[in-house]
Amino acid sequence: MLEAHRYRYATKKFDSTKKVSDEDFNTIMEAARLSPSSFGFEPWKFLLINSEKIREELKPFSWGAVNSLNGASHFVIGLIKKNITVDSPLVKHIIEDVWGSTLEEKKRHLHFFQEFQENDFKLLNNPRALFDWSSKQSYLALANMMTTAAFLGIDSCPIEGFNHEKAEQYFSEIGVLDTSEYGISFMVSFGYRDEVQPPKTRQSMSEILEVIS
Ligand SMILES: Cc1cc2nc3c(=O)[nH]c(=O)nc-3n(C[C@H](O)[C@H](O)[C@H](O)COP(=O)(O)O)c2cc1C
Repeated sequence: MLEAHRYRYATKKFDSTKKVSDEDFNTIMEAARLSPSSFGFEPWKFLLINSEKIREELKPFSWGAVNSLNGASHFVIGLIKKNITVDSPLVKHIIEDVWGSTLEEKKRHLHFFQEFQENDFKLLNNPRALFDWSSKQSYLALANMMTTAAFLGIDSCPIEGFNHEKAEQYFSEIGVLDTSEYGISFMVSFGYRDEVQPPKTRQSMSEILEVIS
C-alpha cells in the first residue's frame, strides 16, 4: 500500500522521450474527477497544456515548473471556481444536473453550507478566503492524481513555483481563462524520471502524530 507513496517524489528531471499513454492519463484524470470536495461542489477544472509554444511561454514566470516544462509528458493547470456561495450557478448545476436533485430537496444541505461559510469558517465577503477554500479542495484532486500516477509507475511534480498574477494574466490573454470565474490553483506535471530518486526525508511519526486519549 505504501509502495506508491514511496515511489512518488517531486521529479526534477523527466525523460522527454517517454510519453504517458492516453489510457494512463485518463486514469489519472479519473482520480481527480472522483476526488472528494467540501459539500460535494467539485470547485475545479483542469487545463491540459499540449502546446509546445505555451509550455515555452510559461517558463519566464514559472521557475518551479521549468524542469517539468522541459521534459514532462503531460502538463496540467489546476483551476478553481471563484466565489462559490449558496447562490452560485455551480451549486445549482451540481445539485440539479450532477445529482439529479432540486434546490428544494437539498434545502438542508444548502442551509448547512450557508452556515459553514458564514459562521463556521467565516468565508463570506472575502474573495481570498473563498479562493483558498476552493483551492483546498483542488489539492485533494492534486494528491489523488499524483498517487494514482505513482501506482501506475508514472512520475509527477506538484508546482506552486510560479508568479500567480502573471500566470493568470497569461492564460487570460490567450483566451483560455476567464479570471472573473476561475483562478489558478496549482500546476502539475506527469512523465517518467530521468534521474535517481533522492532518499525520502520526513519527520518521524512521533513528531507529527499526537494521540489524545
Ligand atoms: C503544493 C506544492 C507545491 C510545490 N511546488 C514545487 C515547484 O514549484 N517546483 C518543484 O520542483 N517542486 C515543488 N514541490 C515539491 C516539494 O518541494 C516536494 O514535494 C517536497 O520537498 C517533498 O519531497 P518529495 O515530494 O520529493 O518527497 C511542491 C510541492 C507541493 C506539495
